[in-house]
Amino acid sequence: MLFENYALNAVALKNRIVMPPMTRSRAGAGDVATDMMAEYYAQRASAGLIISEGTQISQQGQGYAWTPGIYTESQIAGWKKVTDAVHQAGGKIFAQLWHVGRVSHTTLQPGHAAPVSSSAIQAEGVKVFVDVKGCGPESGVGEMLQHTMPRALTAEEIPAIVNDYAQAARNAIAAGFDGIELHGANGYLINQFIDSQANLRDDQYGGALQNRLRFMKEVVTAVSNAIGKERVGIRLAPLTTLMGSRDDTPEATYLAAASVLNDLGIAYIHIAEADWEDAPVMPAAFKEALRLIFRGTLIYSGKYTRARAEEALQNDWADLIGFGRPFIANPDLPYRLQHDLPLNQPVKEQFFGGGKAGYIDYPPAK
Ligand SMILES: Cc1cc2nc3c(=O)[nH]c(=O)nc-3n(C[C@H](O)[C@H](O)[C@H](O)COP(=O)(O)O)c2cc1C
Repeated sequence: MLFENYALNAVALKNRIVMPPMTRSRAGAGDVATDMMAEYYAQRASAGLIISEGTQISQQGQGYAWTPGIYTESQIAGWKKVTDAVHQAGGKIFAQLWHVGRVSHTTLQPGHAAPVSSSAIQAEGVKVFVDVKGCGPESGVGEMLQHTMPRALTAEEIPAIVNDYAQAARNAIAAGFDGIELHGANGYLINQFIDSQANLRDDQYGGALQNRLRFMKEVVTAVSNAIGKERVGIRLAPLTTLMGSRDDTPEATYLAAASVLNDLGIAYIHIAEADWEDAPVMPAAFKEALRLIFRGTLIYSGKYTRARAEEALQNDWADLIGFGRPFIANPDLPYRLQHDLPLNQPVKEQFFGGGKAGYIDYPPAK
């Protein structure tokens, strides 16, 4: 099934293989996507769907050095080169829209202000990659620093951030993307509103579950109004606690989130499963419940192999499967999977920052 076509609403995918969002920290000056990035994504256009690396919707939304943005004219023009290259190579590409919330550092923030979050809680031990000395992405040299203590957003400030998401979605369409994925996973801003231990607010955005889901709901509604709900997806990480974001009752919380998203009628939910060694396996019962609640497309990513992917499709847990690290090292991953060819192994040291090496020089099999 993995190699069959799939209609993601109006976006025709040639197979069910997704390249999930992966930050590579190689943007140019002004956080603009570069020609090298266009080449990297075009090399991987045999995926049914590519989702871009996390792309900040505003300077406030940035948490790491050298990640690309989508809020200035030059950033839109940079991404246009990427989407043109992918389309020319026969691929489809969505933009992952990212606001990191508290997972940032004053040096990345406008006016070196404190980062913002649902609540003023610092996630201890959560570090961000900062280019303190201004060495630039080619050098790959920076420092890992504890993220800065955030301040809680006031309710009055929230509409402006929701609007930043909507504008970023419009910009993504102007840049030629086929749709957008909201980054609601891995402990970033949307997740900081959802998870009970990250959100201690006592206003309409905190406390009761439906209140903690309000920010997500407002953002999804705004981007849907901006570009059409059929081109909107969201990434969620229900059972992981990345970046220090925890929920007391994750299964109940995320099934409720799925129900809200179903009512809003967006195109897909992309589940980020735990992906480290010895990670707990997401229970099949949770996947089955999610399927019953959310009627749109379901994508799963996290340590998938061809065999696990086929199992997830056969069991009807998933419609599309993301392969992350394998795509970093294998530009022609679908071909290799289909023909059971050996895979190149990714070089972790070259994941973030640097030049061509470990980025556009992994050899195809054919
Ligand atoms: C280098 C790297 C960067 C990543 N950056 C992002 C990101 O920007 N946004 C996101 O939602 N997930 C990100 N992820 C998580 C991946 O999308 C994916 O869920 C994860 O790698 C698990 O899939 P895999 O086991 O097939 O690699 C990143 C993963 C890697 C390895």
